[in-house]
Amino acid sequence: MRVTPWEVEGIVDYDRLIKEFGIQPFFEIIDKVPNPNWLMRRGVIFGHRDYDRIIDAMVNKKPWAVMSGFMPSGMPHFGHKMTMDEIIWHQSMGGKAFVAIADMEAHAVRGLSWQKIEEIGFIYIKCIAALGLKPDNAIIYFQSASRHVKDLAFELSAEVNWSELKAIYGFNPETTLARMFITSIQAADILHPQLKDFGGPKPVVVPVGADQDPHLRLTRDLASRISIFSFERIEGGVRVRSRRGAEYLKKLRRLGFKCRVYEKHIDLFGNPTEIEEEVRKVELELGGFAFIPPSSTYHRFTTGLTGGKMSSSKPESYISLFDEPKVGAKKVMKALTGGRVSAEEQRRLGGEPEKCTVFELFTYHLIMDDKELEEIKRDCKEGRLLCGHCKRRASELVKNFLKDLQEKVESIDLSEYTIIS
Ligand code: TRP
Ligand code: SF4
Repeated sequence: MRVTPWEVEGIVDYDRLIKEFGIQPFFEIIDKVPNPNWLMRRGVIFGHRDYDRIIDAMVNKKPWAVMSGFMPSGMPHFGHKMTMDEIIWHQSMGGKAFVAIADMEAHAVRGLSWQKIEEIGFIYIKCIAALGLKPDNAIIYFQSASRHVKDLAFELSAEVNWSELKAIYGFNPETTLARMFITSIQAADILHPQLKDFGGPKPVVVPVGADQDPHLRLTRDLASRISIFSFERIEGGVRVRSRRGAEYLKKLRRLGFKCRVYEKHIDLFGNPTEIEEEVRKVELELGGFAFIPPSSTYHRFTTGLTGGKMSSSKPESYISLFDEPKVGAKKVMKALTGGRVSAEEQRRLGGEPEKCTVFELFTYHLIMDDKELEEIKRDCKEGRLLCGHCKRRASELVKNFLKDLQEKVESIDLSEYTIIS
């Protein structure tokens, strides 16, 4: 298995990803989420970092944001739809939505022309709008058009050196500077909702596929490195460090928390959330960023319809949101299922929904009712359901979904949206 932001290879073992990357299992906190969405309930979102922070903000109605991005290099497909659904859901739960159209990334990584990228970028924007993103409380932007993102990326890049990039991304001497710089751009995408101009420090959740985790690890690190103060939870309170030295730590004594001052850090005792909030206020007064390390959620990869991974060079392996409805339906009819070699064997042994791309479509996109989904799974496993029937149902649902979405895209009015382009 190999999972990096630019390639995913082999069969992905999610438990191993959790262990190796240090991602937290999502099921451990799902009970605390008010009204978890279908992707959470079904374990499609399998991991997170610091999602507790988001739950806290959601529940206590404090300001928070959701941000993710799309590289406009090919037409959006069901994999992109999942991230869009996640952004939309978080917006509906009260988060401010930031949507990046990663045109700089598409240019640096895929070498597409700016004109082509812009054209495709607007298709992504229409899609997320048609899927239900509300114009209020949303900012959509092209990376190249955001002064905030580009300036912040430059600041962040001063904190990153070559050995670190090599260790995280496996870059080599042939890697272009633009491709390296894109890592800072993405970190800036993620952190800029916390800039003063966007309302200051706040929890931000980034819903992504697990392949994007290296970006998040780097960004979380940069968030504390570039801020004046950084935190570590200790028994009964918080240990605060400052890269700017003891002078800055001394300023925290007046906050009124019980404290112990050391040469390189200061320990403050009390409610950790409160302590961090107060220290951040001091940092803002001092002109620092006071970034909160971003939270993230990780969803499973979408399997190619023909088995294995989706590939843009194999159109039968994925359904584009702009496939003609009939064409999309046909792809489903040809999809790899978890069925047996004959109907007789399937009735006897049952099918294998865990290995079935049609069942995956039901789970990720087509069937919202958990009970209904459970029934399909049970009937499949017990041999009462046959693949032909199942595929016809899925292909009907896909056809209607595509038709409906494409009509909405056609008639969408973007004038109410804030789009920085
Ligand atoms: N790199 C992401 C991709 O390839 C797109 C992206 C750009 C992004 N900026 C982001 C994702 C910020 C999450 C957050 O799909
Ligand atoms: Fe998949 Fe349906 Fe066949 Fe079961 S019966 S393997 S869910 S297509």
